Amino acid sequence: MSKKYILALDQGTTSSRAIIFNHSGEIISVAQKPFQQYFPKAGWVEHDAQEIWSTQSSVAAEVVAQTDLDAQDIEAIGITNQRETTVVWDTETQQPIHRAIVWQDRRTSDYCEELKAAGHADMIRDKTGLIIDAYFSATKLKWILDNVEGAREKAAAGRLKFGTVDSWLIYKFTKGATHATDITNASRTMLYNIHDQCWDQELLDLFDIPAEMMPEVKSNSEVFGETANTLFPIPITGVAGDQQSALFGQMCLERGMAKTTYGTGCFLVMNTGEEAVQSDNNLLTTVAWKLDDKVTYALEGSVFIGGAAIQWLRDGLGLLSDAADSEAMATAVEDNDGVYFVPALSGLAAPYWDQFARGTLVGLTRGTTKNHIVRAALEGIAYQVADVLKAMEQDMQSETKEMRVDGGAVKNNFMMQFQADILRSQVIRPKVMETTAMGAAYLAGLATGYWKSIDDIQSQWQVDREFDPEMESEAADQLLKRWHAAVERSRGWEKT
Ligand code: G3P
Repeated sequence: MSKKYILALDQGTTSSRAIIFNHSGEIISVAQKPFQQYFPKAGWVEHDAQEIWSTQSSVAAEVVAQTDLDAQDIEAIGITNQRETTVVWDTETQQPIHRAIVWQDRRTSDYCEELKAAGHADMIRDKTGLIIDAYFSATKLKWILDNVEGAREKAAAGRLKFGTVDSWLIYKFTKGATHATDITNASRTMLYNIHDQCWDQELLDLFDIPAEMMPEVKSNSEVFGETANTLFPIPITGVAGDQQSALFGQMCLERGMAKTTYGTGCFLVMNTGEEAVQSDNNLLTTVAWKLDDKVTYALEGSVFIGGAAIQWLRDGLGLLSDAADSEAMATAVEDNDGVYFVPALSGLAAPYWDQFARGTLVGLTRGTTKNHIVRAALEGIAYQVADVLKAMEQDMQSETKEMRVDGGAVKNNFMMQFQADILRSQVIRPKVMETTAMGAAYLAGLATGYWKSIDDIQSQWQVDREFDPEMESEAADQLLKRWHAAVERSRGWEKT
């Protein structure tokens, strides 16, 4: 058995994390640092890319130091990251020219409406698998080039590089030697042709983006470069966007297998095998991974507000002091008492894609308590996931028997049971819930031969608990009917 370890770096939306795994897939050590969120205007969300780098590199050093290892004990690094978030930097200074524009940022919504009105939706959909939305990197990158003073001139002079967060970190770790990304992150930019597997010139032209700014696109498990910041150079050999990494970490390796990650938002991803399934139900077609030159595709439904709904009840309304209290509060009442909360706090994503929907609380009476509202929020997260899974089942023309789950909220047994009841399928929680980092570790370790093959790692995934549907289907249907009525009330609010 190898004495070495794999270091997974998980650069998320609210914190930078580093986890060391051993050959058995066990967690040896974890380090984490939150970083600042900037909200310069309503609907705008930014990160300081330098702070992303400094927190990520410092937790990497910390996690190694706290286990008494040194860099030589690390076989390879796997990177996984918040996707779509857009960084542009100047190669002469190695500094970003603007704060990173985060995936949640809505500043380019109106421009996206213009693109739709100009009839670009089908072409973009056919090439990228994506629905035109401010969520993806293309319009954010164009915004930086158009709005940062001198950016267009610097770009024309070949000084600027674009990258999603993975690419920025690789550039920094390799001290500028590598400007690359992986195919899953590329597939979220709205500039990458997922069928031809290249940056698409027609799209680069549409958004007025010089091709020289774009990173080289690699597979998910190969050598990206070597760290140049430690005494001992460590190869970076696995890279994937966080949702794809979680799909891999959850060992959803067969067509039809799906996972949901409950974080700030909720992300459902289903493996569709070698077929890039075009959705008739407003889901995204995306790349699950590319291994040994073979691309596996996925369908994805993103829900913008998941755990963030509970955070808002805690920090915005002060209804609870700790998110962990939500389970006890929800179960302190018998049912939702007719209260529904549509957490469309930043619009609705899949399958509605309504940028102008807003958070809506309906069904309040004098008998409504804060427990009902907390319960309605947890149920609202589960209904959104159910809406996406229904759309996926229609696209795949098959029913899903099980959903693997991960992320902070899956510790909430009430919510997981309610999720199974509403989905009418089994919800499976694995023992190791760090599946995002796990996926990146596996991708890195497979590239170096640390793990010989997928068979070598598959048995490491183990079930913690299965939740079977218990509610009568008529009761679940009735809840869903009223939920959909609540969704209708939330739609288009910003435009009324
Ligand atoms: O698409 C955005 C997603 O990758 C962000 O994930 O876990 O950082 O909230 P997370």
